[in-house]
Amino acid sequence: SSGLAKTPLTLAFESLAGSRTDAIVVPPGYSAQVLVPWGAPLNDTAPDWSEDLALTPEMQANSVGMHHDGMHAFPLDADSASRRFILAMNNEYIDENALWAPQGGPTNMAEGQRPADEVRTEINAHGITLVEVEKTDNGVWQHVRGSAFNRRYTSATPMALSGPVAGSDYVRTKYSPEGTLTRGTNNNCANGYTPWGTYLTCEENWPDIFIKDEGRETDDDRLGIPTGRGRYGWETAAGDASEEEGEFSRFNATPGGASASEDYRNEPRTFGYIVEIDPYTGAQAVKRTALGRFRHEGCWPGKLVEGQPVVFYSGHDSRNEYIYKFVSEAVWDPADAPVVGAEANRLAIGAKYMDKGTLHVARFNADGSGEWLAVTPDATTADGRTLAEALGLAADDHAGIIIHTCDAADLLGATPMDRPEWGAVDPTSGEVYMTLTNNSKRTEEGSEPTFTGNEDDIAAPGNGYATAPTNAANPRAANEGGQIIRWREGEDQGVFEWEVFVFGAAANDADNLSGLTDSNQFASPDGLYFDERDEGQGILWIETDNGYAGVADATNDQVLAVVPAALQRADGAAAVVSGDNQQALKRFCVGPNGCEVTGIFATADRTALFINIQHPGNWPAGDDATQAASGTVRPRASTVVIQKDDGGIIGV
Ligand code: FEO
Ligand code: CA
Ligand code: CA
Ligand code: CA
Repeated sequence: SSGLAKTPLTLAFESLAGSRTDAIVVPPGYSAQVLVPWGAPLNDTAPDWSEDLALTPEMQANSVGMHHDGMHAFPLDADSASRRFILAMNNEYIDENALWAPQGGPTNMAEGQRPADEVRTEINAHGITLVEVEKTDNGVWQHVRGSAFNRRYTSATPMALSGPVAGSDYVRTKYSPEGTLTRGTNNNCANGYTPWGTYLTCEENWPDIFIKDEGRETDDDRLGIPTGRGRYGWETAAGDASEEEGEFSRFNATPGGASASEDYRNEPRTFGYIVEIDPYTGAQAVKRTALGRFRHEGCWPGKLVEGQPVVFYSGHDSRNEYIYKFVSEAVWDPADAPVVGAEANRLAIGAKYMDKGTLHVARFNADGSGEWLAVTPDATTADGRTLAEALGLAADDHAGIIIHTCDAADLLGATPMDRPEWGAVDPTSGEVYMTLTNNSKRTEEGSEPTFTGNEDDIAAPGNGYATAPTNAANPRAANEGGQIIRWREGEDQGVFEWEVFVFGAAANDADNLSGLTDSNQFASPDGLYFDERDEGQGILWIETDNGYAGVADATNDQVLAVVPAALQRADGAAAVVSGDNQQALKRFCVGPNGCEVTGIFATADRTALFINIQHPGNWPAGDDATQAASGTVRPRASTVVIQKDDGGIIGV
C-alpha cells in the first residue's frame, strides 16, 4: 500500500564494505570534510583551537559545544539557502577525558568536590550551538567566525516554561517561585524543527545530572534521577563571590528548605521537555510542556495540511517506553510559515500550535492496526478509572498528568517499545518511520534476556529497566539488531496502520528477519532522515549507534540509504533486502573508530549531506574527514559535510 504511484530513485553508488579505521569512508566520487568541530571559535572571545588548549568557562561559552547530535539548517535568504545558513546543533554530553586532556583529566569526577570553573566549563560544553556556515567558491564549507547569528544556549541559560506545567506547583523553585522559568537545557539528543522556522531541541538523558537522596516522588524513580552522585558531580561544586543563586546546588533536588519555593526539589521537573528556539533572534528559549515530560529523543512534525491540526511525533528512548503524538488545538494556517528572511515573532506562533493541544501515546495492535490514546486527566484507564483518579491527582490537573507522562501511558495500556529513537516523515505520503534501536530487557514470556550489546549509553538504574514480553511491534527477545517501524495515520487523529519496515541484524544471525547481507547489515538504528525530491519519493537515510558485536566486529557505525518505494515487499511484512532488493538498501558512509553517527540533513538542493560524528576515539586528524591520524589526536565530535566531487546530487 505504501510507495505506489511514486517513482523510486536508483541509488547510484556501490554499497560500501564494512570498515574499522580512524577515518570516514564514503563512496568513490564523494568527499567528506570536517566542519565546526568541538571547540571551534564562534567569535574572537574564544581562541583558535589547539591540541593543548586549556578551556575556561568563557572560552567554551564562545566556542562550538561538545558531542554533536541532532541538527538542522535555517536559511538566511531564499536564493542562498543551499550555500549559507544558520546551523543549529545539539551538544548532547561530554567526554570529560578529552575536555580535560591538557590537565591530565577532570578533577574529582568520581568523588570529592568538583572545582567550580571545571563545572562551569562542562555546563557550557552542553546545550545548543547556533553557527553561520557557508560554502566557499571552491566548494569547501567554513563557519563565519563573529557572525551575529552565532550563539550558545547552554545548561545554564535562562529559559521559559510554557504550556500546562508552567506556573503550576510542580515547578516552583527558589530561582522561579512563580514556576515560569528555569536554567538550561541538557542532554539534547535528536532535534526537530517547525513549519514556522524554529528549532526544536529535545531533553533526553537529563535525569543523570541531578541527584535526589530524600523526598523522592514517583516520577523521580520512573525517570531514573540518581541518588548519591550525579553523572559529573556538578552538585558538589561550590563557588565563590560570583556564584549565582543555586548555580550548583540546584542539581541536588533533595528538599532543603521549608517549601518548594525555598529550595530546588522541583528543579528536575523543569527538565524533560521539547524546547523551542528561534535561531534568527536569540530570544529566550521556551520549554513546551504540552508535548510531555520524559526522556525525549527528538520531535518531528507530521505532514502539514491546511485547516488540519499540526502534529509532532516524539519517542521516549528507554527500554519498554513509548511513542507519542501531540495534536495541536489550532489548525494549520499557511500564513504562519514566515517568508525566509522576513521578521516574525516565531515563538508566538509556536505558542499558538504547541501550548494547547492533546498528547497521545501509541498502542500497536497485533493485527496491524494502532490507536492513539489521549493522555488527558479525564481519559479512561485500562481498569476503568479516569487517569487523574488513577494517578491520585485532582480531576483537572493537566500539569500533573504531564509531570507523570510515563505512568499515565502505562495506565492507558500503551505498547512498550524497543527504545524509540529518531522519526522521519515521508514528505510525499506523510508516512512516519521511527527507529527502535535495541532492547536488552525484552523477553520471551517467562525467560531472562541474553543481551550482549553495549548498555553504557543509559546508566541510571530505574531507567527503563523493567522487562516486558515480546509483542507484535517488538517481536524479538533480547533485541540486539533493532528495527524500523512505519505507520500511516487514519481518517481521524485516533487510529493508524503499522508494519515493521526493516529489521536490523548481523547477516549470519538466526533472527536476520530482513535478509541483510555483509554489504548492508546494520544494528541499533538511531538517526533517521527522509529527503525530499521533486521527481518522486526521496531517500530514507539511516544512521547507527551500535554496540552489538555481531555487526560491530565487521563495521563501525554507518549511514545507510534506502528508497522505500524501491523495496519489493509483501504488504504488512517487513522488507527482505537480499536478492533483487539488495540494490534498494546500501551502505553509504562508515564512521571512524569509537564513534556513533548521528544528526543529519541535506541541503535544499540535495548536493550536500550533513552528518555528525559523536564520541570518536581518535579523530579527526585534520580538515579531511577521510584522513586517519598517523598518531594520537585529542578526539573532537564534529559535523561532516559529504559532497560529490562533480557537485552533483547526493545518492543518485
Ligand atoms: Fe541520545 Fe537516544 O540517543
Ligand atoms: Ca540517538
Ligand atoms: Ca542511541
Ligand atoms: Ca549519543
